[in-house]
Amino acid sequence: MDSFCRNIPKAELHLHIEGTLEPELMFELSRRNDIPLRFKTVDEVRAAYEFTGLQSFLDIYYEGAKVLVHEPDFYDLATAYFGRAAADGVRRVEMFFDPQTHMERGVSCETVVHGLFRACEDAQAKHGISAGLILCFLRHLSGEAAMQTLKEALPFKEKLLGVGLDSAEKGHPPTKFTEVFARARAEGLHAVAHAGEEGPPAYIRDALDLLKIERVDHGVRCLEDPALVARLKEGRIPLTVCPLSNVKLRVFDALEGHNLRALMDAGLLVSIHSDDPAYFGGYIGENFYATQKALDLSREEVRRLARNSFEACFLPDAQKRELRAEVDSFGS
Ligand code: HPA
Ligand code: ZN
Repeated sequence: MDSFCRNIPKAELHLHIEGTLEPELMFELSRRNDIPLRFKTVDEVRAAYEFTGLQSFLDIYYEGAKVLVHEPDFYDLATAYFGRAAADGVRRVEMFFDPQTHMERGVSCETVVHGLFRACEDAQAKHGISAGLILCFLRHLSGEAAMQTLKEALPFKEKLLGVGLDSAEKGHPPTKFTEVFARARAEGLHAVAHAGEEGPPAYIRDALDLLKIERVDHGVRCLEDPALVARLKEGRIPLTVCPLSNVKLRVFDALEGHNLRALMDAGLLVSIHSDDPAYFGGYIGENFYATQKALDLSREEVRRLARNSFEACFLPDAQKRELRAEVDSFGS
């Protein structure tokens, strides 16, 4: 079952590329760019990864990202990630990146996008993984700052798949970002948003109604609102669920208590992803098999989750069908 979970073809749709920065690469970039870290050893960094909630994680995540400065840094980060993804049966990646985290340190949006995009091109050639980039706005910053960021990115919008919304959810409703999402959609970009991770179901509704998102990132709190569940089910609106992240950030006390099975039983289009795997203790394969074990998922249920990941992705329908067929014939 472990190797079935690890190798089944799947799409990674909820992954923050800055959240794949392993401590070893963090130290290498710290030396390369002469940016000191407050940690002395790799073990010391890993020991600091005990979180009490989303904010306590974000504080350390933004700190780690400071070592990323030049285009090759972003290329190396994403290239290291694609190697791990390939080993986990990943065939499609739609990755988040946070340009504002870097722009405030004087790194241009273009530097970030070019480094990541080059790695995406190589992933196709090297691993047969197709990949796209989703530019995320930091929701603890203003709607105006988000618009400024979008405008800086538009000259190379052909390198982008869509826009997203991440960072601290509580107290930062989707309302703030109505305008920037409207502009992004008018520019032909897809729209997704984190909602209902720590924030209430109302944020999921607002993200659907105001931001017109096509996919909900996390969304696990939707079960508190039966009418919302019916709407998500009816519209086959995907939820990208990150089980190990949810436990690390205390959304659930333990994997055994995760509501993934309840989401599936409610008929929702859910799939499993890894969020910030360098910080949360596992890439997508690990998320699949840890969850399979904890919730005693059957092979058919694992297969359904993998199939859902392709249904939820932004590839053209014909390619999605092909990938779903690969899932159906896998291991049988
Ligand atoms: N939630 C919100 N923002 C984030 C996350 C997350 O899990 N990871 C990186 N930015
Ligand atoms: Zn996330």
